[in-house]
Amino acid sequence: KTHYKIAVLPGDGIGKEVIPEGLRVVKAAAQRFGIALELVEFDWASCDYYAQTGSMMPDNWKELLLPMDAIYFGAVGWPAIVADHISLWGSLLKFRREFDQYINLRPAQTFAGVRSPLAGRTAGDIDMLIVRENTEGEYSSVGGIMYEGTENEVVMQQSIFSRRGTERVMKFAFELAKTRARKHVTVATKSNGISISMPWWDARASEVASAYPDISWDKQHIDILCARFVLSPERFDVVVASNLFGDILSDLGPACTGTIGLAPSANLNPERRFPSLFEPVHGSAPDIYGKNIANPVAAIWSGAMMLDFLTNSKGAGHEAHDAILAAIKAVLISGPHTPDLGGKASTTDVGKAIAERLLASN
Ligand code: NAD
Ligand code: IPM
Ligand code: MN
Repeated sequence: KTHYKIAVLPGDGIGKEVIPEGLRVVKAAAQRFGIALELVEFDWASCDYYAQTGSMMPDNWKELLLPMDAIYFGAVGWPAIVADHISLWGSLLKFRREFDQYINLRPAQTFAGVRSPLAGRTAGDIDMLIVRENTEGEYSSVGGIMYEGTENEVVMQQSIFSRRGTERVMKFAFELAKTRARKHVTVATKSNGISISMPWWDARASEVASAYPDISWDKQHIDILCARFVLSPERFDVVVASNLFGDILSDLGPACTGTIGLAPSANLNPERRFPSLFEPVHGSAPDIYGKNIANPVAAIWSGAMMLDFLTNSKGAGHEAHDAILAAIKAVLISGPHTPDLGGKASTTDVGKAIAERLLASN
């Protein structure tokens, strides 16, 4: 393939501030490494679009996105206009499901120049990849409210774990561990309390693990796992978790490295039957939107993961990824820094500095 089509969906809030900086850097990298990109920007998958039309996306959203090689996504959610479960199930969660993006890959790393809130942790101490199951588990639409408005009112919501869905996420985690120096997988569980699905989840882990004799692995209950993220994060390499546990760990891990403003994610359909989606882990941050102070690194790093995925982690896209990461690392050391990193720089200042650095190292 010589030319890639990318749908750009900035969404809401700081999505609209960080995506332009991500694009600045992605375009600079594409130019430097000779990758032809066709960027198609859409204003839907946003609460503004909902306010105008009464839905989050046009009816033909799938038709518009299917021909794309990837989706570059900001954030969705503006609870003052639309309830979060409506806006998210009407956009991001639909993409994850309907495009079978069953892997949500979320790295967390400590970097030189970024102070970890954990005492004594510096660059290289934390280097983990969180593999979050992204299409089932606790995020289900099966359930409902019964006897509403009476004293017997109950609400139920099922968790659903399929054998196929669980095996494939475990397999992805073990395959990923093969590419790592430490070759270790930690499986997040809660098989002591959640007595049906989680012992079954552990059994799937154990079965898949038996096919990977060179990969060491352990399972940890989610409660102590959270504690160990804070107390001894250097022990983690690849961490595989259900949808909800993975969601929680993927804010906690990056928080331990200094800020969630760095955390990228790749929502992957590894078979490439559908477009994959690349987005920062963070949301629309209504509390800081409009000030141009959001950290754009999460969006920029997500853009790097997108270029890498487009070319199968080989060739130009892979080189572009590594060059963007190198430019991010350099700017994290030298500054400018946004306020979440203790600096005074704007979103734009940081995006420009990373793009300049990328082209200067040419
Ligand atoms: P959030 O991630 O938007 O913000 C949490 C906190 O982190 C805020 O104080 C915010 O200012 C800060 N923060 C987030 N990103 C930052 C960045 N790049 N630089 C500096 N600071 C940053 O989470 P929330 O407040 O729970 O959610 C706000 C809205 O975003 C809600 O509507 C929520 O549903 C939505 N949301 C969307 C996504 C997504 O689209 N993937 C993810 C999380 C939350
Ligand atoms: C994330 C977000 C979403 C999730 C929300 C907004 C539905 O928190 O991408 O981590 O829970 O998956
Ligand atoms: Mn989350």
